[in-house]
Amino acid sequence: MSDDTSPTQSKASSSVPKSGRRFEGQVAVITGASRGIGLGIARRLNAEGATVVLTARKPEALSEAVAEFPDGTALAIAGKADDPAHRADVFDTIAEKFGRLDVLVANAGINPVYGPLVDMELDAARKIFEVNVLGTLAWVQDAVHHDGLKFRENKGRVVTLSSVAGQVPSEGIGFYGISKAAVSHLTKTLAVELGPDIRVNAVAPAVVKTKFATALYEGREEQVASAYPAKRLGTPEDIAGAVAYLASDDADWITAQVLTADGGVVTAGGGA
Ligand SMILES: NC(=O)c1ccc[n+]([C@@H]2O[C@H](COP(=O)([O-])OP(=O)(O)OC[C@H]3O[C@@H](n4cnc5c(N)ncnc54)[C@H](OP(=O)(O)O)[C@@H]3O)[C@@H](O)[C@H]2O)c1
Repeated sequence: MSDDTSPTQSKASSSVPKSGRRFEGQVAVITGASRGIGLGIARRLNAEGATVVLTARKPEALSEAVAEFPDGTALAIAGKADDPAHRADVFDTIAEKFGRLDVLVANAGINPVYGPLVDMELDAARKIFEVNVLGTLAWVQDAVHHDGLKFRENKGRVVTLSSVAGQVPSEGIGFYGISKAAVSHLTKTLAVELGPDIRVNAVAPAVVKTKFATALYEGREEQVASAYPAKRLGTPEDIAGAVAYLASDDADWITAQVLTADGGVVTAGGGA
């Protein structure tokens, strides 16, 4: 039997964060962050004290996104998530400028095609696999192996972006779902390999209102949202809150998990 004054209880209550700035002094990289979910995540981590490094392919939109952050707290590095030279550029720059990396959010993901799997061009499938799965793996490999980042020493945290399409077969985006199922399993496998130094978790959203998902709800948002117990679609802020939790010390005992952030739609029998 224990009472409120037991050592365990006092330790727990003293671990309540003193402020909402859980990433003070930390450096985070967020891939695919010039808009949508990635930008939402970068804003949240930055608001909680992190210096953020944002990537995306198009330099103009990326520079515009970075311009909104307080001076000296955000950096833009343009490139393709599946390009090894770009990843080296990002990590060398972070090592040189900040000498550390604390949080990696492997958010960049693509789905360039729509239609039945049985008719799918295999080259399109290869590209989706390359960016969504091998790209995610490679960002983690490069972060772990770069001595100038001290990712292990900093008790690095990785958050990947999966999808409910990786849990429930979704019409028209079948191979994308397959790639996200692989991201979820990759996440769990990396967590097992990299613990106890590094925690690795995923967030699996249902439809979040971004450019990426427009085709899934535009012109019929109310109808789509009616299948969700939450009776609304997701926002980048919803996903940013989940990512920030997993990347923070509040989730210090949480690793190898896929957090479904879906307004309840999968449990209610729906999907992406
Ligand atoms: N929105 C949803 O409903 C939803 C649901 C589940 C999961 N997700 C996942 O969430 C992640 C973000 O999606 P989103 O909805 O925020 O998409 P989005 O609004 O289209 O934004 C995608 C971002 O990634 C960048 N990007 C795209 N391809 C890239 C590449 N090959 N290399 C580097 N950057 C790239 C884009 O900029 P550039 O075009 O300039 O590169 C942009 O900044 C993806 O992994 C997606 O699969 C989204």
